[in-house]
Amino acid sequence: MIVLEAVSKSFIQGDESIPALANISLHVKRGECVVLKGPSGSGKSTLLSLIAGLMQPSQGEVRVDGKEISKLPEHFSAAIRRQKIGFIFQKYHLIVHLSVLENVMTPLIPENLPLHVLEMKAKAVMEQCGIAHKAKMRVNRLSGGEQQRVAIARALINDPLIVLADEPTANLDEKLSRALIDELAILKEKGVTLLIATHDPLFFDLGCVDKIIEIHNGEIIV
Ligand SMILES: Nc1ncnc2c1ncn2[C@@H]1O[C@H](COP(=O)(O)OP(=O)(O)OP(=O)(O)O)[C@@H](O)[C@H]1O
Ligand SMILES: [Mg+2]
Repeated sequence: MIVLEAVSKSFIQGDESIPALANISLHVKRGECVVLKGPSGSGKSTLLSLIAGLMQPSQGEVRVDGKEISKLPEHFSAAIRRQKIGFIFQKYHLIVHLSVLENVMTPLIPENLPLHVLEMKAKAVMEQCGIAHKAKMRVNRLSGGEQQRVAIARALINDPLIVLADEPTANLDEKLSRALIDELAILKEKGVTLLIATHDPLFFDLGCVDKIIEIHNGEIIV
């Protein structure tokens, strides 16, 4: 489902090249749940962004569900993201002046669904994520943990085949973290492929996790 072949990524700043990932090869099968662990700055978010086609590798190939997302023009990679991927961003990337409900609905707006269908889908994922009671609130009035739950609901509204979660429990207390883990386990049972970047030890001993991959300084440790 997710294949990376000899992927490297460097960021260019001025005349400096900052290496973030070096020669990463990784296969995540359909329906697998893989945890990506590693210290801050090791390249976890960069790796997830490459898989989502949000940035291109400097070298190598990234394939998602058989398509080489790393070579597609932006409007094609955006369509793959919209149809197949739920991305829970580390920094949420919510639209601050919109309500919870509006934020959760945004990924489906290009699909031109009737408003009542959009609202019904949004309500279902908001319930699932325990944030439905704040539906009308502007997201900039919410706590960090509440914003995180909005970000999770938004990632699930398109019924994704793949969920990429970047530190999804960073702002949740233990009870909410466990509730999120239960949700992720349910997604796995439904056949969703999960890749979770985290340092949260709660993820390191879970029955639903098939594989833990460790990354240090942009390289996978075997
Ligand atoms: N847009 C960018 N421009 C320049 N350097 C970047 C950029 N994005 C990431 N980096 C660098 O790439 C390296 C990997 O960053 P990344 O955010 O992937 O790490 P991470 O493992 O997700 O860290 P954290 O656990 O703190 O979220 C870091 O050294 C970072 O400074
Ligand atoms: Mg990160």
